[in-house]
Amino acid sequence: LDNGLNLTPQMGFNNWNSTYCGDQFNEAMIKGIADVFVEKGLKAAGYQYINLDDCWALPERDGAGNLVPDPVRFPHGIKALADYVHGKGLKFGIYSSAGDHTCDVKGFPGGLGHEQQDADLWASWGVDYLKYDNCNNKGVDAQTRYRAMGEALKRTGRPILYSICEWGSTGPWNWAQPVGNSWRTTGDISDNWQSMISIAQTNQGLANYAKPGAFNDPDMLEVGNGGMTGTEYRTHFSLWAQMAAPLMIGSDLRGAEPETLEILTNKDVIAVDQDPLGRQGSVVTRENGLVVMSKPLADGSRSVTLTNEGSYDATISTTASAVGIGGAASYTVKDLWSKQSTSSTGAISAVVPGHGTAMFRVTPSSPVAPPTGVTRLSDLPF
Ligand code: GLA
Repeated sequence: LDNGLNLTPQMGFNNWNSTYCGDQFNEAMIKGIADVFVEKGLKAAGYQYINLDDCWALPERDGAGNLVPDPVRFPHGIKALADYVHGKGLKFGIYSSAGDHTCDVKGFPGGLGHEQQDADLWASWGVDYLKYDNCNNKGVDAQTRYRAMGEALKRTGRPILYSICEWGSTGPWNWAQPVGNSWRTTGDISDNWQSMISIAQTNQGLANYAKPGAFNDPDMLEVGNGGMTGTEYRTHFSLWAQMAAPLMIGSDLRGAEPETLEILTNKDVIAVDQDPLGRQGSVVTRENGLVVMSKPLADGSRSVTLTNEGSYDATISTTASAVGIGGAASYTVKDLWSKQSTSSTGAISAVVPGHGTAMFRVTPSSPVAPPTGVTRLSDLPF
């Protein structure tokens, strides 16, 4: 969506993957996450949005038809919470559904038919981001519903990042580029390897549809929620960055292990996700569960991931020319997890543990060599 927002994929926090609609989803939690963003270096690493998911409202609108914040979860209302988040130099996001009710079984009021009233209310609270879900949509055409809210957000005059969440059901990559800043491409992620890797596989096929302002969204991160190993979480984070996916943290950072923070604040991996070219990496080769991906970066280098979807150690190899930057005499190959740099004439290779990913930034380090048999002027003896 050409609204000047999300030129690189959104980064932030959303409570859903850690709390769902549990009681621990409340004002204290959200404020605490904003505090951790500042204190533990997440804000400095680029994370910006602090977002509420489903269940923030009461089950009924008020007499004037307005949404009402749940006074038990949010005793000071949403505006005060948004003010707190803004006071930390961060941005604030909210959730609704393009239906008559949201997705939770309790069925909170949705935005269908209330688009302008709800958008105006959120803008008055200082909302900077809307995640707009697809439940209870009454069979109304998806494009009609998502465009209606997009227009309403625009009319508020407030810049509001628009995150479309219709789970890939109507092929949003074919229509959502001018409508939203991102669109979900799959059903909900769960905190296990099988869920994460199958979502990655679906999203890998959609590389050509991503561009600045409009990104594929393979759902929020599970890093830190405890259902995967450190190796698997590093694969999750590497692949999301390689696919220019939104990096929305889904674990309760107030109790984060050092390893979780280390993964989520890996500057080199984040730089791949946030590269200004805004291109999604694509699959170069996939053989027997060994997957090589390449992502073009603005400085002419490539990010290369070597993912082992199998269970046992495997050597995965590719070359600079296979990933799209052949022709240089040598390359600097930086391992974005170990931080070690090596020099290569073009081979890129690693022994990768089961469910692991090696991730390299490959940069041509000397001028492109002329084709063999051609003499350079500078080599002539005069
Ligand atoms: C849907 C969405 C999830 C979450 C829940 C909330 O399942 O895909 O991301 O927002 O609804 O009920």
